[in-house]
Amino acid sequence: MALIIINGENMKQQLVYDLPTRIFHWAFAGLFLTAFIIAKTIDDDSPIYVYHMLVGLTLGFSILLRIVWGFFGTQHAKFSDFAFHPKDLLSYFKGILTGDKKRWAGHNPASSWAAVAMMVMALGLALTGYLMTSGPNKETFEDLHELLGNGLIITVILHVTGIIIHTVRHKEMIGLSMVHGQKTDVPSAEIIFNSKPTVAIVFVTLVISFGLLLFKNYDSQSRQLHLFGSVLQLGESEDYGSHH
Ligand code: HEM
Ligand code: HEM
Repeated sequence: MALIIINGENMKQQLVYDLPTRIFHWAFAGLFLTAFIIAKTIDDDSPIYVYHMLVGLTLGFSILLRIVWGFFGTQHAKFSDFAFHPKDLLSYFKGILTGDKKRWAGHNPASSWAAVAMMVMALGLALTGYLMTSGPNKETFEDLHELLGNGLIITVILHVTGIIIHTVRHKEMIGLSMVHGQKTDVPSAEIIFNSKPTVAIVFVTLVISFGLLLFKNYDSQSRQLHLFGSVLQLGESEDYGSHH
């Protein structure tokens, strides 16, 4: 627990986010941006495009683990701690306008909604990505996939804009709470006392192993990924639509 001095007042920094939640956050950001940048800058005929698929599936897997942590994790990692009430969301936005600040030790109402929306959309991307490379109705899933990709980037931009506005308006470096896990002057009932490093190591090991397993099961010659009994085909010989 660190002590910092702002405007001559003593402000205590206390732990609210455990390590698995913080690592998940930056894994989500990194994996999403990697998949998105590949999708927007690299031709889907390129051998590099496979990383789009592998990274996207790994992100989907890490979200499944985060969902489990949302039920068994520490206080503010739990979904039951998220602020979903529409009234809270309204008063949070009002507070941004008026500067009236109700403090949220865990996820504030805007980031609670954004977090769930981002997790659902990224899971949808992994699922539609899987479906469009492994079975019929390719085009339908492709349209859905692109829609979800655009929806997710818009939500991410709103999320990061929200973090910036909160930081400026409430003079609280909220972004750092996803780095060191701490917020300022948290009521004692909201403090967590264990950052769960062992769970963090298990999480990182599982996610890396899953990514490596995918990589091992990919055959660059046929551009096929063998995954739990199904075959995902990246790019097809019919090669339609590759002119643009
Ligand atoms: C691609 C970029 C990003 C994505 C996909 C993303 C996604 C997420 C997700 C899924 C959560 C919920 C975390 C959980 O409960 O497990 C979250 C929360 C949060 N994110 Fe991000 N994020 C991104 C960028 C950033 C950046 C750049 C910052 C700060 C500089 C940031 C700061 C935060 C904070 C502070 C929270 C918790 C909010 C609160 O305490 O109310 N995020 N983000
Ligand atoms: C976070 C995860 C993912 C994101 C953000 C994402 C995003 C996108 C976006 C935005 C596009 C459209 C690119 C364009 O503008 O033309 C795209 C295309 C594509 N994605 Fe994903 N994707 C993800 C996961 C996956 C997964 C898991 C797979 C396969 C298992 C996959 C397979 C593909 C393929 C094959 C295309 C090319 C479709 C075409 O021919 O137009 N994606 N993705």
